[in-house]
Amino acid sequence: MTSASSPVCIAGALVQAEIRAVMLAATSIFLIMVSPSVVVFAGVAKRGTLLPMLTDSSTSMLQLCADPVLGVSMRNVTVLRLDLLGGSAPGNKVFKLRGSLRAAQARGIKRILSFGGAWSNHLHALAAVGAELDLETVGVVRGAETETPALEDMRRWGMQIVPVSRETYRRRFDSDWLADLEQRHAPCLVVPEGGAGADGLRGCLEIADMVNRSGRIFSRVLVPVGTGTTLAGLIAGLRGSPEVFGVAALKGARDLEERVQEYLHASGLPARVSWQIIHDAHCGGFARTSAELRAFMLAFESVQRLPLEPVYTGKMLYALHSRLAQGRWAEDEPVLVVHTGGLQGRRGYAWLG
Ligand SMILES: Cc1ncc(COP(=O)(O)O)c(C=O)c1O
Repeated sequence: MTSASSPVCIAGALVQAEIRAVMLAATSIFLIMVSPSVVVFAGVAKRGTLLPMLTDSSTSMLQLCADPVLGVSMRNVTVLRLDLLGGSAPGNKVFKLRGSLRAAQARGIKRILSFGGAWSNHLHALAAVGAELDLETVGVVRGAETETPALEDMRRWGMQIVPVSRETYRRRFDSDWLADLEQRHAPCLVVPEGGAGADGLRGCLEIADMVNRSGRIFSRVLVPVGTGTTLAGLIAGLRGSPEVFGVAALKGARDLEERVQEYLHASGLPARVSWQIIHDAHCGGFARTSAELRAFMLAFESVQRLPLEPVYTGKMLYALHSRLAQGRWAEDEPVLVVHTGGLQGRRGYAWLG
């Protein structure tokens, strides 16, 4: 049984409540309780299926409270709290990994290899899921000269860490190097960095489905962007006419739009809604922070009592807050933001406390 304390803001009221995530190992039943009497999420995960089946998708949506954040009310904002879902691979990870895990299972492969940095949420989730599902995992880690708590977790969960120089890591799309890695760790399934691609996209259709099933109507939907796979899943799966905005975590990644198109093409799915990528909220670059981002995140967390991390979700909410503050977006238009998790990464930012 795992338990985490976190204050929650529900329907405009700030409720200091304990969220308790209960996973009963034998039956794999998930309950997330706001108080002993209010269950906000309940689901059943068959052992080995990885993804809790939602009984009511709308209950994992939380409305931000009206108290202003740095002078701006964010009461029109609803948060889809994927960070509360997915057990040991919370956030968008469980959705993105599911296709690869199925592919490995179908081919009888028990070892999965993938790529990431020393703080990678993707490798962290893969290692955790591998330990749960009894799969061997190999993490090819970029310039892993510094030990991080994330790498410690990965090793503890049995992931074999293969550190490579930054120069070698740049070859992660090079088919010769990939074939070589695959052979060296054979039999293994090689999953692209960040779980990117059509398999990942198909898993993310389930996120869109959660929104569709909620029956709620949003003018805008925001999601953070690393590889663009989660964004691609949303724009292929969302119904209605929200405008979807991906918020780039990287600076100057002008090929992201093209990559999203490629994932859609590879999966044979069209974009069903209009979408664009916001490129002005990187705050200095991937995993970098600016004084403005730090001030916003500290203010946001203290008002809304919702944990963020600076690489993805902090920048997404910062982009939204700036647009509301500048009056570019109206405060009464309903917005959904997808909280994609990544909270293990908070450990790399001492200022977050
Ligand atoms: C917490 C978090 N949010 C968002 C993303 C971006 O997802 P994507 O690579 O699908 O764009 C990632 C990366 O996987 C992530 O770890």
